[in-house]
Amino acid sequence: MQEQHVDLHLQPVKQLRGEVTVPGDKSISHRAVMLGSLAEGTTQIENFLMGADCLSTVACCRALGVDIRQTGPTSLEVKGRGLNGLREPDQVLDTGNSGTTTRLLMGILAGQDFFSVLTGDESIRRRPMGRVVEPLRQMGARINGRRRGTLAPLAISGGNLQPIAYTLPVASAQVKSAVLLAGLFADGITKVSEPVPSRDHTERMLKNFGAELTIEGRQIAVHGRPRLVGQTIVVPGDISSAAFLLVAGCLVPQSELRLLNIGINPTRNGILEVLWQMGADIQVENERETAGEPVADLVVRTSRLRGVTIEGDLIPRLIDEIPVLAVAASLAEGKTVIKDAAELRVKETDRIEAVATELCRLGARVTARPDGLEIEGVEYLTGTVCHTYDDHRMAMALAVAGLVARGQTIVRGSECVNVSFPGFAEKLLNLLQ
Ligand code: S3P
Repeated sequence: MQEQHVDLHLQPVKQLRGEVTVPGDKSISHRAVMLGSLAEGTTQIENFLMGADCLSTVACCRALGVDIRQTGPTSLEVKGRGLNGLREPDQVLDTGNSGTTTRLLMGILAGQDFFSVLTGDESIRRRPMGRVVEPLRQMGARINGRRRGTLAPLAISGGNLQPIAYTLPVASAQVKSAVLLAGLFADGITKVSEPVPSRDHTERMLKNFGAELTIEGRQIAVHGRPRLVGQTIVVPGDISSAAFLLVAGCLVPQSELRLLNIGINPTRNGILEVLWQMGADIQVENERETAGEPVADLVVRTSRLRGVTIEGDLIPRLIDEIPVLAVAASLAEGKTVIKDAAELRVKETDRIEAVATELCRLGARVTARPDGLEIEGVEYLTGTVCHTYDDHRMAMALAVAGLVARGQTIVRGSECVNVSFPGFAEKLLNLLQ
Protein backbone atom coordinates (compact mmCIF):
# COMPACT_ATOMS: atom_id res chain seq x y z
CA MET A 1 0.00 0.00 0.00
CA GLN A 2 1.35 3.41 -0.95
CA GLU A 3 1.46 5.79 1.99
CA GLN A 4 -0.19 9.17 1.48
CA HIS A 5 2.26 12.09 1.27
CA VAL A 6 1.76 14.66 4.00
CA ASP A 7 3.16 18.18 4.05
CA LEU A 8 3.48 20.05 7.34
CA HIS A 9 2.79 23.79 7.10
CA LEU A 10 4.37 25.85 9.86
CA GLN A 11 4.25 29.51 10.87
CA PRO A 12 6.25 31.20 13.63
CA VAL A 13 4.46 30.71 16.94
CA LYS A 14 4.27 33.12 19.90
CA GLN A 15 4.81 30.59 22.66
CA LEU A 16 4.71 26.89 23.57
CA ARG A 17 3.23 26.08 26.96
CA GLY A 18 1.94 23.12 28.88
CA GLU A 19 2.54 19.57 30.01
CA VAL A 20 3.25 16.94 27.41
CA THR A 21 4.17 13.29 27.16
CA VAL A 22 6.07 11.72 24.28
CA PRO A 23 5.64 8.17 22.97
CA GLY A 24 7.57 5.27 24.47
CA ASP A 25 11.26 4.83 23.78
CA LYS A 26 11.89 3.25 20.39
CA SER A 27 15.04 1.33 21.36
CA ILE A 28 13.43 -0.07 24.51
CA SER A 29 10.15 -0.96 22.75
CA HIS A 30 12.00 -3.07 20.13
CA ARG A 31 13.98 -4.89 22.78
CA ALA A 32 10.93 -5.54 24.96
CA VAL A 33 9.17 -7.36 22.11
CA MET A 34 12.26 -9.35 21.12
CA LEU A 35 13.21 -10.46 24.64
CA GLY A 36 9.54 -11.07 25.47
CA SER A 37 9.37 -13.39 22.45
CA LEU A 38 12.39 -15.39 23.70
CA ALA A 39 11.24 -15.55 27.33
CA GLU A 40 9.13 -18.14 29.06
CA GLY A 41 5.73 -16.83 30.09
CA THR A 42 3.99 -13.60 29.28
CA THR A 43 5.60 -10.19 28.91
CA GLN A 44 3.33 -7.22 29.42
CA ILE A 45 4.55 -4.03 27.76
CA GLU A 46 3.06 -0.65 28.72
CA ASN A 47 3.67 2.66 26.92
CA PHE A 48 4.92 0.69 23.91
CA LEU A 49 5.79 2.89 20.92
CA MET A 50 3.10 2.11 18.32
CA GLY A 51 5.30 3.67 15.62
CA ALA A 52 6.06 2.06 12.28
CA ASP A 53 9.55 0.86 13.30
CA CYS A 54 8.44 -0.99 16.41
CA LEU A 55 5.41 -2.38 14.59
CA SER A 56 7.88 -3.89 12.10
CA THR A 57 9.47 -5.74 15.03
CA VAL A 58 6.04 -6.95 16.18
CA ALA A 59 5.18 -8.17 12.67
CA CYS A 60 8.52 -10.01 12.32
CA CYS A 61 8.18 -11.68 15.74
CA ARG A 62 4.64 -12.76 14.85
CA ALA A 63 5.99 -14.24 11.61
CA LEU A 64 8.42 -16.23 13.81
CA GLY A 65 5.45 -17.78 15.61
CA VAL A 66 5.08 -15.46 18.60
CA ASP A 67 1.57 -14.60 19.80
CA ILE A 68 1.53 -10.82 20.36
CA ARG A 69 -1.71 -9.05 21.21
CA GLN A 70 -2.48 -5.39 21.54
CA THR A 71 -4.33 -5.02 24.85
CA GLY A 72 -4.71 -1.21 24.92
CA PRO A 73 -3.73 1.91 22.93
CA THR A 74 -0.07 1.48 23.92
CA SER A 75 -0.10 -1.95 25.61
CA LEU A 76 1.06 -5.27 24.26
CA GLU A 77 1.00 -8.79 25.61
CA VAL A 78 3.74 -11.05 24.29
CA LYS A 79 3.35 -14.78 24.86
CA GLY A 80 6.97 -15.85 24.97
CA ARG A 81 7.99 -19.08 23.26
CA GLY A 82 11.15 -19.68 25.28
CA LEU A 83 14.70 -19.57 23.91
CA ASN A 84 14.13 -22.46 21.50
CA GLY A 85 10.53 -21.79 20.53
CA LEU A 86 10.73 -19.65 17.40
CA ARG A 87 9.62 -21.27 14.15
CA GLU A 88 10.82 -20.88 10.59
CA PRO A 89 8.96 -18.01 8.91
CA ASP A 90 7.20 -18.95 5.66
CA GLN A 91 7.76 -15.50 4.15
CA VAL A 92 10.53 -12.95 3.83
CA LEU A 93 10.68 -10.86 7.03
CA ASP A 94 10.00 -7.19 6.25
CA THR A 95 11.81 -4.81 8.60
CA GLY A 96 10.44 -1.66 6.92
CA ASN A 97 12.58 1.40 7.71
CA SER A 98 13.96 -0.04 10.93
CA GLY A 99 17.70 -0.57 11.38
CA THR A 100 17.16 -1.80 14.93
CA THR A 101 14.66 -4.46 13.81
CA THR A 102 16.99 -5.61 11.05
CA ARG A 103 20.23 -5.76 13.02
CA LEU A 104 18.93 -7.09 16.34
CA LEU A 105 16.77 -9.72 14.65
CA MET A 106 19.81 -10.87 12.67
CA GLY A 107 21.44 -11.71 16.00
CA ILE A 108 18.43 -13.77 17.07
CA LEU A 109 18.04 -15.45 13.67
CA ALA A 110 21.73 -16.38 13.62
CA GLY A 111 20.95 -18.58 16.62
CA GLN A 112 18.04 -20.43 14.98
CA ASP A 113 18.30 -23.80 13.39
CA PHE A 114 16.23 -22.63 10.39
CA PHE A 115 16.33 -20.48 7.29
CA SER A 116 15.14 -16.89 7.17
CA VAL A 117 15.39 -13.89 4.86
CA LEU A 118 15.28 -10.27 6.00
CA THR A 119 14.75 -7.17 3.95
CA GLY A 120 13.31 -3.68 4.33
CA ASP A 121 12.58 -0.45 2.49
CA GLU A 122 14.91 1.43 0.12
CA SER A 123 16.78 3.04 3.01
CA ILE A 124 17.33 -0.27 4.82
CA ARG A 125 18.61 -1.85 1.61
CA ARG A 126 21.28 0.89 1.41
CA ARG A 127 22.43 0.69 5.05
CA PRO A 128 25.61 -1.20 6.02
CA MET A 129 24.88 -4.70 7.32
CA GLY A 130 28.41 -6.12 7.00
CA ARG A 131 29.14 -4.80 10.50
CA VAL A 132 26.58 -7.30 11.88
CA VAL A 133 27.18 -10.10 9.37
CA GLU A 134 30.91 -10.22 10.16
CA PRO A 135 30.70 -11.17 13.88
CA LEU A 136 27.69 -13.44 13.31
CA ARG A 137 29.63 -15.35 10.65
CA GLN A 138 32.53 -15.64 13.11
CA MET A 139 30.08 -17.29 15.49
CA GLY A 140 29.19 -19.81 12.78
CA ALA A 141 26.03 -18.42 11.15
CA ARG A 142 25.80 -18.75 7.38
CA ILE A 143 24.65 -15.45 5.94
CA ASN A 144 24.34 -14.44 2.31
CA GLY A 145 23.21 -11.17 0.85
CA ARG A 146 23.84 -8.54 -1.80
CA ARG A 147 27.43 -7.29 -2.14
CA ARG A 148 28.95 -10.29 -0.33
CA GLY A 149 26.48 -10.13 2.49
CA THR A 150 26.87 -6.46 3.32
CA LEU A 151 23.45 -5.31 2.11
CA ALA A 152 19.87 -6.56 2.57
CA PRO A 153 18.10 -8.70 1.51
CA LEU A 154 20.01 -11.11 3.74
CA ALA A 155 19.47 -14.86 3.97
CA ILE A 156 20.41 -16.51 7.26
CA SER A 157 20.92 -20.18 8.05
CA GLY A 158 21.61 -20.17 11.75
CA GLY A 159 22.23 -22.55 14.60
CA ASN A 160 25.26 -24.19 16.22
CA LEU A 161 26.83 -20.93 17.27
CA GLN A 162 30.22 -20.67 18.97
CA PRO A 163 30.83 -17.92 21.54
CA ILE A 164 33.32 -15.25 20.45
CA ALA A 165 35.15 -12.30 21.97
CA TYR A 166 34.46 -9.43 19.63
CA THR A 167 35.73 -5.85 19.58
CA LEU A 168 33.33 -3.52 17.79
CA PRO A 169 35.04 -1.48 15.06
CA VAL A 170 32.34 1.24 15.40
CA ALA A 171 30.38 2.38 18.46
CA SER A 172 27.05 0.80 17.58
CA ALA A 173 24.44 -0.40 20.05
CA GLN A 174 22.75 -2.32 17.25
CA VAL A 175 25.87 -4.35 16.46
CA LYS A 176 26.66 -4.86 20.15
CA SER A 177 23.08 -6.02 20.75
CA ALA A 178 23.08 -8.38 17.75
CA VAL A 179 26.20 -10.15 19.07
CA LEU A 180 24.81 -10.33 22.63
CA LEU A 181 21.49 -11.73 21.35
CA ALA A 182 23.31 -14.32 19.23
CA GLY A 183 25.37 -15.10 22.34
CA LEU A 184 22.17 -16.29 24.06
CA PHE A 185 22.19 -19.22 21.64
CA ALA A 186 25.89 -20.13 21.93
CA ASP A 187 27.31 -22.57 24.48
CA GLY A 188 29.65 -20.58 26.70
CA ILE A 189 30.40 -16.91 27.21
CA THR A 190 30.18 -14.36 24.42
CA LYS A 191 32.13 -11.14 24.99
CA VAL A 192 31.73 -7.78 23.28
CA SER A 193 34.02 -4.78 23.77
CA GLU A 194 33.04 -1.34 22.60
CA PRO A 195 35.42 1.52 21.73
CA VAL A 196 33.03 4.14 23.17
CA PRO A 197 30.01 3.31 25.34
CA SER A 198 26.77 3.11 23.36
CA ARG A 199 23.19 2.78 24.62
CA ASP A 200 22.94 -0.08 27.10
CA HIS A 201 19.24 -0.97 26.99
CA THR A 202 19.93 -4.53 25.83
CA GLU A 203 22.25 -5.18 28.76
CA ARG A 204 19.82 -3.73 31.31
CA MET A 205 16.86 -5.63 29.91
CA LEU A 206 18.71 -8.94 29.53
CA LYS A 207 19.58 -8.77 33.24
CA ASN A 208 15.95 -8.05 34.14
CA PHE A 209 14.81 -11.06 32.11
CA GLY A 210 17.23 -13.24 34.09
CA ALA A 211 20.25 -13.58 31.78
CA GLU A 212 23.68 -13.83 33.35
CA LEU A 213 25.51 -10.77 32.11
CA THR A 214 28.58 -9.05 33.49
CA ILE A 215 30.09 -5.71 32.57
CA GLU A 216 33.75 -4.93 33.20
CA GLY A 217 34.89 -1.59 31.87
CA ARG A 218 33.94 -1.58 28.21
CA GLN A 219 33.51 -5.34 27.95
CA ILE A 220 30.16 -7.07 28.26
CA ALA A 221 29.97 -10.83 28.75
CA VAL A 222 26.80 -12.87 28.37
CA HIS A 223 26.36 -16.55 29.28
CA GLY A 224 24.70 -18.66 26.61
CA ARG A 225 21.44 -20.61 27.00
CA PRO A 226 19.87 -18.66 29.86
CA ARG A 227 16.31 -19.13 30.96
CA LEU A 228 14.59 -15.82 30.26
CA VAL A 229 11.45 -15.09 32.24
CA GLY A 230 8.58 -12.86 31.04
CA GLN A 231 8.41 -9.40 32.62
CA THR A 232 6.21 -6.37 32.93
CA ILE A 233 7.94 -3.47 31.20
CA VAL A 234 6.78 0.12 31.44
CA VAL A 235 8.62 1.85 28.61
CA PRO A 236 9.93 5.36 29.47
CA GLY A 237 9.18 8.28 27.13
CA ASP A 238 11.75 8.53 24.33
CA ILE A 239 14.38 11.21 24.99
CA SER A 240 15.08 11.22 21.24
CA SER A 241 11.46 12.36 20.67
CA ALA A 242 11.57 14.72 23.66
CA ALA A 243 14.62 16.34 22.02
CA PHE A 244 12.42 18.06 19.40
CA LEU A 245 10.28 19.61 22.14
CA LEU A 246 13.32 20.55 24.23
CA VAL A 247 14.84 22.48 21.34
CA ALA A 248 11.46 23.99 20.40
CA GLY A 249 11.01 25.05 24.04
CA CYS A 250 14.41 26.77 24.00
CA LEU A 251 13.88 28.55 20.68
CA VAL A 252 10.23 29.67 20.74
CA PRO A 253 9.80 32.91 22.74
CA GLN A 254 7.98 32.86 26.08
CA SER A 255 7.81 29.09 26.30
CA GLU A 256 7.62 26.76 29.24
CA LEU A 257 7.12 23.05 28.67
CA ARG A 258 7.00 20.22 31.14
CA LEU A 259 7.86 16.90 29.46
CA LEU A 260 6.64 14.03 31.59
CA ASN A 261 8.21 10.64 32.12
CA ILE A 262 11.29 10.91 29.88
CA GLY A 263 14.05 8.28 29.90
CA ILE A 264 17.35 9.85 30.97
CA ASN A 265 19.63 6.81 30.71
CA PRO A 266 23.22 8.17 30.88
CA THR A 267 24.06 6.50 27.55
CA ARG A 268 21.24 8.51 25.93
CA ASN A 269 21.18 11.88 27.69
CA GLY A 270 23.95 13.69 25.79
CA ILE A 271 21.30 16.08 24.43
CA LEU A 272 20.76 17.46 27.95
CA GLU A 273 24.48 17.89 28.52
CA VAL A 274 24.92 19.78 25.25
CA LEU A 275 21.84 21.96 25.64
CA TRP A 276 23.04 22.91 29.16
CA GLN A 277 26.45 23.77 27.74
CA MET A 278 24.70 25.93 25.15
CA GLY A 279 22.99 27.81 27.99
CA ALA A 280 19.55 26.14 27.92
CA ASP A 281 17.21 26.50 30.89
CA ILE A 282 16.23 22.86 31.49
CA GLN A 283 15.37 21.39 34.88
CA VAL A 284 15.34 17.68 35.70
CA GLU A 285 12.61 16.88 38.24
CA ASN A 286 11.03 13.88 39.90
CA GLU A 287 13.84 11.42 39.07
CA ARG A 288 12.81 7.78 39.44
CA GLU A 289 13.31 4.37 37.82
CA THR A 290 11.04 2.21 35.63
CA ALA A 291 11.97 -1.10 34.01
CA GLY A 292 15.57 -0.69 35.21
CA GLU A 293 15.82 2.65 33.38
CA PRO A 294 16.16 6.12 34.95
CA VAL A 295 13.23 8.43 34.17
CA ALA A 296 12.43 12.09 35.00
CA ASP A 297 10.25 15.06 34.10
CA LEU A 298 12.05 17.78 32.15
CA VAL A 299 11.07 21.43 32.33
CA VAL A 300 12.37 23.67 29.55
CA ARG A 301 12.05 27.43 29.21
CA THR A 302 13.00 29.82 26.40
CA SER A 303 16.77 30.29 26.45
CA ARG A 304 19.52 32.22 24.70
CA LEU A 305 21.86 29.62 23.24
CA ARG A 306 25.55 29.78 22.35
CA GLY A 307 27.64 27.59 20.05
CA VAL A 308 29.59 24.57 21.36
CA THR A 309 31.87 21.77 20.19
CA ILE A 310 30.32 18.29 20.22
CA GLU A 311 32.76 15.41 19.75
CA GLY A 312 34.28 12.16 20.99
CA ASP A 313 32.52 9.98 23.56
CA LEU A 314 29.55 12.33 23.61
CA ILE A 315 28.55 11.49 20.03
CA PRO A 316 26.97 8.04 20.61
CA ARG A 317 25.05 9.55 23.55
CA LEU A 318 23.21 11.96 21.24
CA ILE A 319 23.70 10.58 17.74
CA ASP A 320 19.97 10.64 16.87
CA GLU A 321 19.54 14.17 18.22
CA ILE A 322 22.09 15.83 15.93
CA PRO A 323 19.56 17.00 13.29
CA VAL A 324 17.58 18.95 15.88
CA LEU A 325 20.74 20.11 17.69
CA ALA A 326 21.82 21.56 14.33
CA VAL A 327 18.61 23.62 14.32
CA ALA A 328 19.44 24.90 17.82
CA ALA A 329 23.02 25.65 16.74
CA SER A 330 21.78 27.57 13.69
CA LEU A 331 20.13 30.09 15.99
CA ALA A 332 22.80 30.09 18.70
CA GLU A 333 25.38 32.81 19.15
CA GLY A 334 28.72 31.83 17.62
CA LYS A 335 29.98 28.66 16.07
CA THR A 336 29.07 25.03 16.72
CA VAL A 337 31.36 22.23 15.56
CA ILE A 338 30.17 18.61 15.44
CA LYS A 339 32.99 16.07 14.90
CA ASP A 340 33.50 12.28 15.10
CA ALA A 341 29.98 11.75 13.79
CA ALA A 342 30.61 10.04 10.42
CA GLU A 343 27.98 7.46 11.50
CA LEU A 344 25.39 10.11 10.60
CA ARG A 345 26.10 9.32 6.96
CA VAL A 346 24.66 5.81 7.30
CA LYS A 347 21.46 6.56 9.22
CA GLU A 348 17.97 6.57 7.65
CA THR A 349 19.53 8.99 5.18
CA ASP A 350 22.92 10.73 5.00
CA ARG A 351 22.07 13.14 7.81
CA ILE A 352 25.21 15.26 7.32
CA GLU A 353 24.26 16.17 3.74
CA ALA A 354 20.53 16.33 4.50
CA VAL A 355 20.91 18.66 7.51
CA ALA A 356 23.37 20.93 5.70
CA THR A 357 21.25 21.17 2.54
CA GLU A 358 17.92 21.75 4.23
CA LEU A 359 19.08 24.16 6.93
CA CYS A 360 20.93 26.22 4.32
CA ARG A 361 17.65 26.47 2.40
CA LEU A 362 16.19 28.08 5.53
CA GLY A 363 19.03 30.62 5.65
CA ALA A 364 21.27 28.86 8.18
CA ARG A 365 25.06 28.79 7.71
CA VAL A 366 25.91 25.11 7.80
CA THR A 367 28.90 23.37 6.24
CA ALA A 368 29.03 19.57 5.83
CA ARG A 369 32.31 17.95 6.91
CA PRO A 370 33.24 14.29 6.32
CA ASP A 371 32.54 13.47 9.97
CA GLY A 372 30.18 16.21 11.05
CA LEU A 373 28.95 19.76 10.63
CA GLU A 374 30.11 23.32 11.19
CA ILE A 375 27.37 25.75 12.00
CA GLU A 376 27.69 29.51 12.31
CA GLY A 377 24.73 30.93 14.23
CA VAL A 378 22.48 33.42 12.40
CA GLU A 379 19.93 35.99 13.67
CA TYR A 380 16.94 34.32 12.07
CA LEU A 381 15.80 31.61 9.65
CA THR A 382 13.47 32.22 6.73
CA GLY A 383 10.66 29.80 5.94
CA THR A 384 10.70 27.91 2.66
CA VAL A 385 9.88 24.46 1.24
CA CYS A 386 12.04 21.72 2.85
CA HIS A 387 12.46 18.01 2.21
CA THR A 388 12.64 15.13 4.67
CA TYR A 389 14.49 12.47 2.61
CA ASP A 390 11.89 10.12 4.13
CA ASP A 391 13.75 10.46 7.42
CA HIS A 392 11.56 10.92 10.52
CA ARG A 393 14.14 12.87 12.46
CA MET A 394 14.82 15.23 9.54
CA ALA A 395 11.08 15.89 9.28
CA MET A 396 10.73 16.78 12.97
CA ALA A 397 13.95 18.83 13.11
CA LEU A 398 12.73 20.90 10.13
CA ALA A 399 9.30 21.30 11.76
CA VAL A 400 11.02 22.75 14.85
CA ALA A 401 12.89 25.18 12.58
CA GLY A 402 9.52 26.08 11.02
CA LEU A 403 8.16 27.15 14.43
CA VAL A 404 10.69 29.98 14.58
CA ALA A 405 11.53 30.75 10.93
CA ARG A 406 10.06 33.95 9.49
CA GLY A 407 7.17 33.34 7.11
CA GLN A 408 5.86 29.91 6.15
CA THR A 409 7.85 26.68 6.23
CA ILE A 410 6.53 23.65 4.37
CA VAL A 411 8.02 20.27 5.31
CA ARG A 412 7.27 18.01 2.35
CA GLY A 413 6.83 14.30 2.92
CA SER A 414 6.47 14.39 6.69
CA GLU A 415 4.38 11.21 6.95
CA CYS A 416 7.67 9.53 7.98
CA VAL A 417 7.31 11.02 11.51
CA ASN A 418 5.12 7.97 12.21
CA VAL A 419 8.29 5.88 12.29
CA SER A 420 9.07 7.15 15.80
CA PHE A 421 6.59 9.85 16.88
CA PRO A 422 2.99 9.26 15.83
CA GLY A 423 0.92 12.34 16.78
CA PHE A 424 3.90 14.73 16.66
CA ALA A 425 2.04 17.54 14.85
CA GLU A 426 -1.02 17.23 17.12
CA LYS A 427 1.19 17.45 20.23
CA LEU A 428 2.74 20.66 18.91
CA LEU A 429 -0.67 22.13 18.13
CA ASN A 430 -1.86 21.41 21.68
CA LEU A 431 1.06 23.36 23.11
CA LEU A 432 0.15 26.49 21.14
CA GLN A 433 -2.96 27.25 23.20
C1 S3P B 1 19.81 2.17 18.15
C2 S3P B 1 21.14 2.42 18.03
C3 S3P B 1 21.69 3.54 17.24
C4 S3P B 1 20.64 4.60 16.96
C5 S3P B 1 19.35 3.98 16.48
C6 S3P B 1 18.79 3.04 17.53
C7 S3P B 1 19.37 1.02 18.97
O1 S3P B 1 22.18 3.04 16.01
O2 S3P B 1 21.11 5.53 16.02
O3 S3P B 1 18.38 5.00 16.21
O4 S3P B 1 18.17 0.92 19.30
O5 S3P B 1 20.22 0.18 19.30
P1 S3P B 1 23.65 2.38 15.85
O6 S3P B 1 23.70 1.13 16.62
O7 S3P B 1 23.80 2.13 14.37
O8 S3P B 1 24.61 3.41 16.34
